[in-house]
Amino acid sequence: MKMRASFGLIPFILFVSCSSGFNKPQTKSDMIPPVIRAVEQTPDQRAVSEAHAQHVIISTQGRVTTQIAKGILQRGGNLVDAAIAASFAIGVERPHSTGIGGGGFMLFRDAATGKVHVLDFRERAPSRANAEVFLRKDGSVTPLASVEGIRSVAVPGFLKAMVELHRKFGKLPLEEVIEPAANLADSGVKVYPDLAEAISEKRDLLARFPESRKIFLHKDGTPYQLGEKLVQRDLARTLRWLARASLDEWVISEFNEKIAGESIRRKGLLTMSDLSRYSTRWLDPLLGGYKDYQIISMPPPSGGGFQVVETLNILDHFGLSDMTAQSAPFLHLFASASQLVFADRSQYLGDPAFIRVPMKDLTSKGYSLEQSQRIDLNHHTPSDVVNPGRPTARESTSTTHFSMMDDQGNVIVSTQTINGSFGSGIVVRGLGVVLNDEMDDFSAKPGVENMYGAVGGDANSIAPGKTPLSSMAPTIVIQNNKPVLALGAPGGTRIGSCVAEVALNFLQFKMSLYDAVSAFRIHHQWKPDILNIEAPGPSAAAFEVLRKDGYAINLAPKAVPCRVMAVARDSGGFVGVSDPRDDGASAGF
Ligand code: DON
Repeated sequence: MKMRASFGLIPFILFVSCSSGFNKPQTKSDMIPPVIRAVEQTPDQRAVSEAHAQHVIISTQGRVTTQIAKGILQRGGNLVDAAIAASFAIGVERPHSTGIGGGGFMLFRDAATGKVHVLDFRERAPSRANAEVFLRKDGSVTPLASVEGIRSVAVPGFLKAMVELHRKFGKLPLEEVIEPAANLADSGVKVYPDLAEAISEKRDLLARFPESRKIFLHKDGTPYQLGEKLVQRDLARTLRWLARASLDEWVISEFNEKIAGESIRRKGLLTMSDLSRYSTRWLDPLLGGYKDYQIISMPPPSGGGFQVVETLNILDHFGLSDMTAQSAPFLHLFASASQLVFADRSQYLGDPAFIRVPMKDLTSKGYSLEQSQRIDLNHHTPSDVVNPGRPTARESTSTTHFSMMDDQGNVIVSTQTINGSFGSGIVVRGLGVVLNDEMDDFSAKPGVENMYGAVGGDANSIAPGKTPLSSMAPTIVIQNNKPVLALGAPGGTRIGSCVAEVALNFLQFKMSLYDAVSAFRIHHQWKPDILNIEAPGPSAAAFEVLRKDGYAINLAPKAVPCRVMAVARDSGGFVGVSDPRDDGASAGF
């Protein structure tokens, strides 16, 4: 149930009557209003989203997945085993969000060395793809070609990543780690609200492909309903087959042949040689700082880590200590920083294997000082193209994130995806695996928006073997050499905003982790020039200040669709919160 938290009005009346613009006196600290949450849960629901623990904490976007990861740890597995088990399981529990047909990013802080290992297993463009692949003869973009069907599929990296992770850091046998996911596929997933919504939204797409229809729709073509069991027999068989061969090279090769077969049959771009040539990349983490916190996030080919680091860099110049959370001045600063960050993202970010990304310059303190000085403290600065009437980018219930932390100082954060809900819509014949539509994360044509409303230029154009720019931002925060917070989210271009906002709510505004995650969120991505505010949004008075000072506002329950899975150190040990906007869970021991 979504409702407006009760709000003392008096402080705000005083607050707005002082002057116009953002540069006004703040509410005194003894008047700090209660956190306005975007979602209110019953105590029972909250007991699933939030968990407290002494030794290890896990937060994923799936209730069964969280229990599977916990079980692996209790059987003597390490955090990497738990992450591999969670990666396989979440693909079964959230087949619309992620899975073997997709890819992702993972950050692993190894307590033994303090080093953060960054694994890029994101999809790459097939060798037959190029900058014109989604263009028609007249130069216009072919509608939906990058979003649906076989040509939207990029080369998946999931399986090779799991092999790499296990080889370097795993402890339990792979078979034991994958088996619970196979069991879940066999016994069935009880359909929860987000899955029911995704199936119903993508009903027509799924109906176009016989294998997808067979699994995700009833025989009469109707979508699965809340509470029904979704059994994925083909996927269960595939997982057992892969598990028993311990993801040996030959089994991956046979698996790839089936994907290549699907692509050939459907006249796709992807070939067997693309699949066998795919390799994961170990990268250096993107580092930033906010006050005395060290921020460790995902470097390119993600733009999400940059978004988090640069937003915090810019805001660091304002101190924020005289500001209250959810106030008009803070929301204005956050939105203004986001505009600057997104403008840079579209200009400079892409796959570093193909273009030079000036990341050192972009994340330097000097540059963020210059950027902070461009912010008009009293008024919204319009983005180049004003498009106030446009609704927010479509919600997608896809992609997933999980976070884990233990008392040794090990941390894992991973965001994984098949991109849009049910990816390309195609399930590989006999495998039960949904193929991604990650080609849409490229800029099909400079200046043309993708499904998340992101615009890009040459830096993110399509080229053979290139990785599409991502927004995924798995992030770890360290203070005095200790991990204090680890988080990430699905949500397309909203990911960086959500991660930065939750981090600020927790680190700067000292909200409880639960409040930090459930507080309403805002998002501004430069183009379109709209300030998206998740309902119920700020106090009426703060809302009025923002409106008067020039923001075109989109206030709606799903205006900033992203869900954050976070874990943190707290006074009693650890706390985990799986976003109460969704159907995940946290657990620990
Ligand atoms: O990598 C990216 O940025 C996108 N493919 C993520 C998609 C996503 O988060 C969908 N979310 N709701």
